[in-house]
Amino acid sequence: MNNFTYCTPTRYVFGRDTESQTGQLVRQYLGAPSRVMIVIGGGSVRRSGLLDRVIASLEASGISHIILEGINPNPTDDRVYEGIDICRREGITAILAVGGGSVIDTAKAIALGVPYDGDFWDFYAGKLPAEVALPVGVVLTIPAAGSEGSGNSVITRLDGLHKISLRSDFALRPKFAVMNPVLTFTLPPFQTASGIADMMAHIMERYFSPTPSVEVTDRLAEGLLKAIMNEAPKVMARPDDYEARANIMWAGTMAHNGICGCGRVEDWVSHFMEHELSAVYGVTHGAGLAVVFPAYLRFMADELPWKVAQWSRRVMGVDVAGDDSAVAHEGVRRLRAFFTSIGLPVTLGELGISDPDFPLLVRKLHEDKGEIIGGYRRLNAADTDRIYRLMLS
Ligand code: NZQ
Ligand code: ZN
Repeated sequence: MNNFTYCTPTRYVFGRDTESQTGQLVRQYLGAPSRVMIVIGGGSVRRSGLLDRVIASLEASGISHIILEGINPNPTDDRVYEGIDICRREGITAILAVGGGSVIDTAKAIALGVPYDGDFWDFYAGKLPAEVALPVGVVLTIPAAGSEGSGNSVITRLDGLHKISLRSDFALRPKFAVMNPVLTFTLPPFQTASGIADMMAHIMERYFSPTPSVEVTDRLAEGLLKAIMNEAPKVMARPDDYEARANIMWAGTMAHNGICGCGRVEDWVSHFMEHELSAVYGVTHGAGLAVVFPAYLRFMADELPWKVAQWSRRVMGVDVAGDDSAVAHEGVRRLRAFFTSIGLPVTLGELGISDPDFPLLVRKLHEDKGEIIGGYRRLNAADTDRIYRLMLS
């Protein structure tokens, strides 16, 4: 096991009706502001009545608000610049994200940009570390990206379509996250399923690691993956199954708040490859991962199968005779069948990309993420080109 530090300072407030505590939480954890910026997406929180309830809770605590509205999935830098300008003009010192990963990541980027004199993109471009930001609180509406508990923010720069994940240890972790599973009942099935693929990917990016002797972290990851695959058919069959929704929601946070990475090198190749797909083709992140991750694992089943075989046996229940490679391939076949069973694509064609530009994807991938990428096995452009092409079938 490697040395590590682990700090996850977000206060999670989980359960039915918890959004009614938002005002108090803003007072307590976001520096008692008299006014906040609320960031929302394309309208689901208005339609469900959630926004009204959140505003009522803020007003009951004496907090007024302005709203930045219409943040799209795969959020872009233009809305961040707009949010920074508004916050500066209005003297806003705290931000409340009401929505999913796209809304939360935009709120985090604005929070980082307001106190910084230069261009906020400097942080995403790796020119300096993200250390100072306005405090951000979250009311979560979709278990998927895990941004409610992560120190990450993923923004696409429109100039060149560069989708970059910024990682901070501390500054970008939300101060609190309200998590009411009832809020997820209204999710369209495709978004529910995409969220499930995303959280599984967050666990597996950490699981496929060269670091030996991480038995506790491995077993945590395996248990979470099994629980997610157990609850997934229930939420797909009955969107208002509170207990199943609650389990999936908490799993989404545990998947990405760092606990599954303690003590080991992480991988992240599948996310890097998916971010190019969603930047160039605008696909839903989790659905993209349902295509990318199995292709990555098929490649590894041939090239470096030991950990894929361990996952196949312990998580996917593979009990067939054969070497590690055969066991690994059977695990991947079962993962694809699972994704298909919850309505997700497993090929680029099913994802809606009929004529993929592989040279463009590979060039952008290595421009954005480096010449050699990956923690489990180091990969060059020839390797990633092979993995992209495995996504054809
Ligand atoms: O925009 P609205 O109208 O709110 O609709 C949203 C959106 O269309 C809808 N939705 C959310 N909650 C709903 C709902 N519809 C009905 N009922 C509800 N309760 O769902 C759609 C997707 O929302 P989005 O916020 O895009 O989803 P998600 O949480 O999957 O976030 C995806 C983004 O997060 C990034 C992804 O790359 C992508 O840009 N990621 C962020 C990470 C992080 N910050 O740690 C890590 C991830 O790996 C990921 O890369
Ligand atoms: Zn993800």
